[in-house]
Amino acid sequence: MNYLEQIDLNRVPLHVAVIMDGNGRWAKARSKNRLSGHNEGAKALKNVLEACGELGVKYLTVYAFSTENWNRPKEEVNGLMELLVTSINKELPQFKKHGIKVNILGQLDRLPDHVQMAVNNVIRQTQKNDKLVFNVALSYSGRWEILNAVNNLIKDVKSGKLTSKEIDDELFKQYLTTKDIPDPDLLIRTSGEIRISNFLLYQLAYSELYFTDILWPDFSKEQFYKAVYDYQKRERRFGKTSEQIS
Ligand code: FPP
Repeated sequence: MNYLEQIDLNRVPLHVAVIMDGNGRWAKARSKNRLSGHNEGAKALKNVLEACGELGVKYLTVYAFSTENWNRPKEEVNGLMELLVTSINKELPQFKKHGIKVNILGQLDRLPDHVQMAVNNVIRQTQKNDKLVFNVALSYSGRWEILNAVNNLIKDVKSGKLTSKEIDDELFKQYLTTKDIPDPDLLIRTSGEIRISNFLLYQLAYSELYFTDILWPDFSKEQFYKAVYDYQKRERRFGKTSEQIS
């Protein structure tokens, strides 16, 4: 089936979030080291970014490195950091050409200095772009983000900047790293694992979830179209009844 032909371009998800899982298993199946899996994963990500541009998806958020990933072997952590720096530097001209704005979600200050510099450079050079916002979750965890928001809210209440009565969903969202970014419509997770793994815990409340057994390095544009096609068949009710929606 040609999924691209089946997609209604007037109803593409505004925001797609992705847990890019399975790089290690992909490498192991080929007797390669884990970093070569991550390298192939970076290529798959490039394809998905292109597919988002083609379909008109406005926000793509990927889970590149979780807070928990700091506990992986040092060699893998360092390799992932280098891959990140080389990838964003290499892709910078493409980000500019295609109007892609790069944004980082997470504890930037935990990253090595040279990674922070590279990341800040790409953020600065793409900040005026508005065709597609590419959020990279780096040293990110949903629980950290929520606790961080709560602590900042407490500070602002204590200093008199706001009163506790003013705290509602909209205000709380302004304290999250995804401030000004709409909640994901669709979450894709590859590699057959069926869990959220501390990703965008607040924002995923009403997202449609799509799980596939495909390992991330094998996730092609066609696979992405398939996920969007599947999304378009869902009925999003946001707690209402079917009749209220139609
Ligand atoms: C999970 O697979 C993947 C990661 C922890 C890293 C994802 C990073 C990339 C795809 C690199 C490119 C990213 C950017 C932003 C350039 P895993 O290692 O947990 O796989 P496994 O479960 O099979 O071991």
